[in-house]
Amino acid sequence: MSVNAGDRGVWSSKLGFILAGAGSAVGLGNIWRFPTTTGKYGGAAFVLVYLLSVGLICLAVMLAELSLGRNVQRNPVGVYKGLAPGTPWKWLGILGVITGWGISSFYSVIAGWTLGYIYKTASGQFTGQSPEGIAQIFNSFVSNPVLVIACHAIFMFITMLILFGGVKSGIEKWSKILMPLLIVILILVVARALTLPGAEKGLEFYLKPDFSKFSGEGVVAAMGQAFFSLSLGMGTMITYGSYLSKKDNLVSSAVWVASLDTTIAIMAGFAIMPAIYAFDLDPTSGPGLIFVVLPNVFNAIPGGALFGTGFFVLLAIAAVTSLISIVEVPAAYFIDEMRMPRKKAVMIAGVGAFIAGIPAAVSLQFLGLMDTIFGQYSLIIGSLGVAVFVGWKWGISKINAELQEGNPNFSGQKIYGFFIRFVTPIAVTALLVCRILFPDAFN
Ligand code: PHE
Repeated sequence: MSVNAGDRGVWSSKLGFILAGAGSAVGLGNIWRFPTTTGKYGGAAFVLVYLLSVGLICLAVMLAELSLGRNVQRNPVGVYKGLAPGTPWKWLGILGVITGWGISSFYSVIAGWTLGYIYKTASGQFTGQSPEGIAQIFNSFVSNPVLVIACHAIFMFITMLILFGGVKSGIEKWSKILMPLLIVILILVVARALTLPGAEKGLEFYLKPDFSKFSGEGVVAAMGQAFFSLSLGMGTMITYGSYLSKKDNLVSSAVWVASLDTTIAIMAGFAIMPAIYAFDLDPTSGPGLIFVVLPNVFNAIPGGALFGTGFFVLLAIAAVTSLISIVEVPAAYFIDEMRMPRKKAVMIAGVGAFIAGIPAAVSLQFLGLMDTIFGQYSLIIGSLGVAVFVGWKWGISKINAELQEGNPNFSGQKIYGFFIRFVTPIAVTALLVCRILFPDAFN
């Protein structure tokens, strides 16, 4: 079945994929959620569990998604229809497409805030404000529906413009420009944070595990964070994998993406923890940390307006390279399954996500609800589904053959089989049960 071959596309090189894949993985999850949850769960102990989750549970799921995508060269629905025709497995793909819509709707709202904050920081609106004044600016900004919806619209529009360009001249081209820029800005912000007087206390909190502040809840939060951060469970990596060539080595590509994502999350902690401690702020203050706490820091340091603006530009860049990968999932579904031209597919996916995001734009509570349903439950269920599908339905010999394409010496079949059939499904089921039992762990 040749489906709009011209509208599907392929990456031009392995590097192109790695940067696009890392662009997807590195997002608000790394710069905003990772440091704030690390702060909430006692610093280094959380980081340790996070690293174990990435290595022992998530990497197997990433390999599974990339292999499925490259094998069938379709969106998630097309993949399950292709490999298990006439079975209910296609609903796992449909869940992914719906999740793409759900996440992109609220993700674009938060990404829109970063645009507002770039403007506010650059124009000196925080300068000379008291902490209460800064909190007040945040509250009045997020409760101004016109402004928030306008920023959400602009952000979604930029995302659609990139996606109009397709895989090579849209996603890949922009990832190649924006990811190096992100890394440069992050290094500058980290350097500034580490040289603040009093930074050591923050480093100690971040690097020296204190298990007395850690809990079962922290384990659950660390695992959930790892799936979100690696863009797993909704078919983003299936879709990006579907643009990979048979010549590429999937194992090393996945390891690259996971390592870049993890390194950048850890670096974001180095940017934020020292600053929090240098100013005696509360590392456990949750999501408000970035938008309410950090402007205080930028306010107080020399060159703060510049670094503050740089920081929010960093956040916006991280967000846009992720949002394109989220909207691409429904877009690829329309291209493959409904045979739509790319522009029309992107229009429907993007405008649909914009409209779906309006309730989240006007209500923080609704935004939190969308995050819980789509950013957490859906991704966990989707990851469990992928592991069970690959481990028990598609089968280890099939994925092994796919992993050997472009990597003929791959010999990890037994170990991989053990992880994807047992370790991952058991760990993810435990995560799902705990997520239900400890709802607070994710807020
Ligand atoms: N990984 C992205 C982040 O860390 C979010 C994301 C989730 C992207 C799911 C794609 C799919 O912000």
